[in-house]
Amino acid sequence: MTTIAVFNQKGGVGKTTVTANLAAALARHGAAPLVIDLDPQAHLTAMWRVTPKPGDTILRFYQGTSGISDLVQQTRHGIDFVPSHLELSKVDTQVVRHRDHVWRLKLGLTAEMLAGTDVPILLDCSPMLGPLAFSALFAADLVLVPVAADFLALNGAVLLDRTLAGLAKFQPRIPRRYLLNRYVPGQVTSEKVLGQLSQRWGSELMRTRIREQEVLGAAAGTGEDIFAFAPESGAAHDFSFLLDELVESGLLRL
Ligand SMILES: Nc1ncnc2c1ncn2[C@@H]1O[C@H](COP(=O)(O)OP(=O)(O)OP(=O)(O)O)[C@@H](O)[C@H]1O
Ligand SMILES: [Mg+2]
Repeated sequence: MTTIAVFNQKGGVGKTTVTANLAAALARHGAAPLVIDLDPQAHLTAMWRVTPKPGDTILRFYQGTSGISDLVQQTRHGIDFVPSHLELSKVDTQVVRHRDHVWRLKLGLTAEMLAGTDVPILLDCSPMLGPLAFSALFAADLVLVPVAADFLALNGAVLLDRTLAGLAKFQPRIPRRYLLNRYVPGQVTSEKVLGQLSQRWGSELMRTRIREQEVLGAAAGTGEDIFAFAPESGAAHDFSFLLDELVESGLLRL
């Protein structure tokens, strides 16, 4: 099975939106994933209306006082979920004392036999490049990189490329795919970013594009995924297509 880290060092590019709606697409497909909120901002936790105490979150796993499985809650979408809390930022700020944190997630998922099962795992990462993000990258079979179609998009993607290249000395190259988000067909900036991405990462650029659609924000505001909120929308279509492409290309095995 597949562990996907949804990551980009650039903030606000759609990591949480992609995690939530890809999780929903999987659940509709009968392959509900395990989703872990690895972002101290805890946006996904808030979006899914989970209000945990710090001790009920992935923080405890990083503190070494709980397994991952013990922290799993079921969301109202029927998805197994490990929430986050603002205090998770401690993991990123105490780098020196906790160097082993970067391997902890991979080791934990393996030891608890969560990785490599029929259940896909999605990791919603924070934009901060610290131990939490590295732990997600080390645990991942695939790094899915949402890139928002704005004028700084390529800067963020190039930065990320350098980060991933830097990890090559620790482990084999992690497969990655760039996913254009907030795409407006025909709009000059969107088409320019698409052109630049395909020129630079053609084979690693997903054919699926998530279009700019206000309904995605509206759905998030109600705590619903796009399939429940607007099943006939273009956004629901885009996320179905994303799942199909991941499966058809063998990147996600169900
Ligand atoms: N395709 C889209 N169309 C319209 N709005 C979108 C789209 N994708 C994301 N958004 C909106 O952009 C904002 C940022 O998205 P999101 O929180 O998913 O980004 P993020 O990368 O997780 O941010 P952070 O780096 O802070 O974790 C949200 O308000 C979200 O609703
Ligand atoms: Mg986010």
